[in-house]
Amino acid sequence: MCGIFGCIINDGDVAPLIHAALKRLEYRGYDSVGEATINEAKVHVKKDSGKIDAVHAILNLDDLKGRVGIGHTRWATHGAPYRVNAHPHVDCKEEVAVVHNGIIENFAELKIELENLGHVFISKTDTEVIPHLIEEKIKQGLSLVEATHEAVNQLEGSYAIAVIYAKEPDKIVCARKESPLVVGVSENGVYCSSDIPAFLPLTNKAVMIENGELVVLSGKGYEIRRLADWNIVPREPETIDWSPEMAEKQGYPHFMLKEIYEQPLTLRNTLRLQDQYLELMTEFLDRAGEVFLVAAGTSYHACLAASYMFSKLSFLATHPIIASEFVEQHGRSVNIDSTILFVSQSGETADTLAALEHARLRAATILGLTNAVGSTLTRLARVYVCQQSGPEIGVAATKTFTSQLSVLAQLALRLAKKRGKVSHIEIESLEKKLQQIPDIAEEILKTHGDKMKQLAEKYYDRQFFFYLGRGISSATAFEGRLKLMEISYAPAIAYPAGESKHGPISLIEPGFPVVFICPKDETHKTIVSNIMEMKARGASIILIMEEGDEELKKLADDAIEIPKDIPEILSPILCVIPLQLFAYYMALKRGHDPDQPRNLAKCVTVK
Ligand code: F6R
Repeated sequence: MCGIFGCIINDGDVAPLIHAALKRLEYRGYDSVGEATINEAKVHVKKDSGKIDAVHAILNLDDLKGRVGIGHTRWATHGAPYRVNAHPHVDCKEEVAVVHNGIIENFAELKIELENLGHVFISKTDTEVIPHLIEEKIKQGLSLVEATHEAVNQLEGSYAIAVIYAKEPDKIVCARKESPLVVGVSENGVYCSSDIPAFLPLTNKAVMIENGELVVLSGKGYEIRRLADWNIVPREPETIDWSPEMAEKQGYPHFMLKEIYEQPLTLRNTLRLQDQYLELMTEFLDRAGEVFLVAAGTSYHACLAASYMFSKLSFLATHPIIASEFVEQHGRSVNIDSTILFVSQSGETADTLAALEHARLRAATILGLTNAVGSTLTRLARVYVCQQSGPEIGVAATKTFTSQLSVLAQLALRLAKKRGKVSHIEIESLEKKLQQIPDIAEEILKTHGDKMKQLAEKYYDRQFFFYLGRGISSATAFEGRLKLMEISYAPAIAYPAGESKHGPISLIEPGFPVVFICPKDETHKTIVSNIMEMKARGASIILIMEEGDEELKKLADDAIEIPKDIPEILSPILCVIPLQLFAYYMALKRGHDPDQPRNLAKCVTVK
């Protein structure tokens, strides 16, 4: 998730405006920054890796000349955070400059075609194909607008782009597919951006750009065209009455809620990861003697769920281990035949890195799944996959958890295919369902917000909670419990449901809330007995269950229904969403700030 910005003003230089706008977009990514302006029929670029303030201290981002310019703040996806990979990217003649947010899926094919035509690439990014593609079209005699139109028609994946061209110095051409894009208009100029906060101090008049649209910004204003039929789309600006604080959170009261609602988008991003890295990691897992899945907190819960995925689909036994226990538990036996997949959103968690260092010194194969390209985990892993969720600001992990699950499910599926253990029909149906998961998540978010708020209103003053699930849903129970505890400070325990009768059941007394995660999978029959055991002791039963499961519903005091026919291995991705919302509303009802829970940090860099 990167931030893009573009700006044409009537008087003065745009560079200080771009710099200030990028600061407001920094929450979208902060590993590199860059800007380009047009002055005296030339494109001038300043860019480097590092946070905006650090880069500005060295390069001075305010002194580029020109009334027209674009800028970018980066969250690396393709290519590590080095200067060469920072945006804007330019064509061979350095006349076309492009900033981009999104992922170009077919960049490898396009790059080969363009290289065969003599184009020279200098970065490892997917974005760099865009200026070269536009250059190629301009060479054929097209204008900037026509060239950009033709170029985006060849792009597969997601993008919001802003393009400038030295020989048409009065224009910025933007286009959108899936990644956000919004235009701002004021008396002094026109702006384009990934979101409204970037230009809010300059104007509160905004025009939302839809998927499949191209916009031309000029001194005269803006013109929107539909890419499919090239028709002009008339659209008036709306007046935005957000405070600057609300604007940063895109109108949501907290980052956590914004990030919960971002999950359809972040899940879609996980379906566009680079094939070669997933394939390579699958290969390593296939050849492994023994496999450990090592992580902390929420990432550990993703590992726990993954152990069921690998076992059920790929017939691969894996050991999910809490990072801080790894050295004690397996430190002596881990060796050259061990393969360890470290899962860490930040890639910097001290416990995870300590386990990694130990394993590395014992010559184990290190694999990584992370959200932070350039992190220590990416530097030390033999192969890593970046889950591409964009920065997560809320301390509680939400969107990064569901993305981890999606990537791990894809790995398990690939391995299953490779090993030929599961029928093609089953694999195909799982692959199809995985593609539908972002839409189903969207549906759940639409229908469950109010319900989970009401549930929190009903239960907010209970002293203690119990979360139970069987099979893969035990991982969901652990994660639901962690979310509730860490932000609402409600004490809670979680167990695999079958284990509850071996001790924890003694806690139950009338009215004690017990949350069961019980999708209709192989564990369904047995979990009914566990629900009955709790019900018989007067517990208040809250069920996360499939819609249409009428028998189960009869047992519930509160039934939270998710769409039916969700395959078992994918169910945690969807079942956890209502639990995230419940934790969020519980925190609010109990008077706590869900974004900054006490005693916690987003990245725990102490052991
Ligand atoms: C919980 C949470 C933490 C992290 C844990 C590991 O909401 O965010 O439990 O999951 O500190 O962090 P990463 O994944 O960055 O290694």
